Amino acid sequence: MSPFQITRTLPEDATDAALRADVLLGLTSDPKTLPPKWFYDAHGSELFEQITELDEYYPTRAEREILATRAGEIAAATRARTLVELGSGSSEKTRYLIDALTDLRTYVPVDVSESALTQAGQALVAERPGLEVHALIADFTAALTLPDTPGPRLVAFLGGTIGNLLPPERAAFLASVRALLSPGDALLLGTDLVKDEQVLVRAYDDAAGVTAEFNKNVLAVVDRELGADFDLGAFEHVALWDPENEWIEMRLRSRTEQTVKIPALDLAVDFKDGEELRTEVSAKFRKEGVRGELASVGLELAHWWTDTEGRFALSLSTAR
Ligand SMILES: C[S@@+](CC[C@H](N)C(=O)[O-])C[C@H]1O[C@@H](n2cnc3c(N)ncnc32)[C@H](O)[C@@H]1O
Repeated sequence: MSPFQITRTLPEDATDAALRADVLLGLTSDPKTLPPKWFYDAHGSELFEQITELDEYYPTRAEREILATRAGEIAAATRARTLVELGSGSSEKTRYLIDALTDLRTYVPVDVSESALTQAGQALVAERPGLEVHALIADFTAALTLPDTPGPRLVAFLGGTIGNLLPPERAAFLASVRALLSPGDALLLGTDLVKDEQVLVRAYDDAAGVTAEFNKNVLAVVDRELGADFDLGAFEHVALWDPENEWIEMRLRSRTEQTVKIPALDLAVDFKDGEELRTEVSAKFRKEGVRGELASVGLELAHWWTDTEGRFALSLSTAR
């Protein structure tokens, strides 16, 4: 059997149906919203990789620093033979874990982006002979069926992606992750931390405009997939800090009064001049909050590591 396998857990028309349902619900809500998972077609995944290299976008560098220094401790604490990674993207930082986990047999990257999974998986099996990569095209917010591979299992959720889930979604998600873990398994969770507002806003509104292009890519996806006529130039990228919820919001602000047609949904959506559509929240965390959210699903925080500047944290928790 090839060391690289890729499995689509849902038929392609289910993805279409999910996009239609999300766009219909989100664009007929007040305020209007779209879920962030639809940023990540091949172009969106490529733009996200460019974001990770921007000076302003510190989370990737901070998390990489923690992984580079702590991978040995993570390996010793977990002795994982299967590594599952949710929202794996390019799997670039994951290589620190793969190299440190000496008993590792199987890596299971899970992502909605088929292009990211294929690129990362093919590169990994070429670089790491003996490693099996069983990629899953799947939505990590839905029930996941993982391949039957040997434990202990380490589930990694890196990049601060958990911050893109709203608090009730986060609670449901953590409960479903907990259900994937048996005694002796562990969760490695990357969380971006609360910090100076200017540093946070700059990370989501870079000078070169890459994040703006990434944000508008969700409109390009709706245009292509549902035949909509969003004019990307008629929307402005907005990033702002919400101090009450302690999250960054990315929005798209209509530059004018306009009506957008979405033929596949038989829908016309009116935007007022200046009206904003929310495309992503990115929650920032504190240690006690993370500990409490993990505890509420039966996970015990065993380790908490930050980068030297204290910007980002990796936590390792185990099933109680
Ligand atoms: C912020 S990026 C992080 C990528 C990588 N883990 C990192 O740390 O650089 C989020 C990743 O999660 C994926 N993703 C977003 N929503 C998802 C969902 N609901 N189910 C599965 N994958 C999702 C995206 O395609 C993307 O690769």
